[in-house]
Amino acid sequence: MRRGALVAAACALFAAGLTGAVPPSLPGATRGNYLLACGGCHGDEGVSNSKLVPTLKGLIGFYLNTRAGRDYLPRLPNVAFSTLSDQELAAVLNYLVFDMGEGSAPTGAKPYEAAEVGRLRKQPLTEISLHRYRGQMVETLINQYHASAGLRMYDVGLYPRAQP
Ligand code: HEC
Repeated sequence: MRRGALVAAACALFAAGLTGAVPPSLPGATRGNYLLACGGCHGDEGVSNSKLVPTLKGLIGFYLNTRAGRDYLPRLPNVAFSTLSDQELAAVLNYLVFDMGEGSAPTGAKPYEAAEVGRLRKQPLTEISLHRYRGQMVETLINQYHASAGLRMYDVGLYPRAQP
């Protein structure tokens, strides 16, 4: 096969993989946006090397138990600075929280709206120690809201970098 044909075949396979992975209830664009903007770090199904990047699958809905947790997600630097529009980002966050979260969101939690995400992403968490901030929030969620201890898996403080 010539190189052009190979590239075309690879693109077709990639496109088929993207559409094939979309659950029927989910607009394909949202799943595609997740894969392109977030999946490289978080994994296709929200499962990553959780010591380096937090796992989203089955956990991410717990944050909606508190106002601080709800505000945290759109304020994360990689989320706030993504190239997705407010609308697209709200849809991706709702996909994570309500689908990928697999029932971890509290009953009656409201979906994110574009205006809310637009407001919060203008205040990205860049001035604070993200790990300390996250650590305190996670302990509250586990101790007071029965969130899974799996949230503790990601914490760079617990896994100091190897000395050179
Ligand atoms: C370059 C890698 C990278 C990309 C791209 C990325 N993230 Fe993250 N994400 C991280 C890391 C690392 C953290 C841990 C907090 C931090 O250091 O920002 C994180 C934290 C999170 C969390 C909080 C999880 C927790 O338990 O604290 C959510 C939710 C999240 N990201 C969603 C997204 C979404 C949505 C996108 C796409 C718009 C995205 N991420 C893109 C690396 C990434």
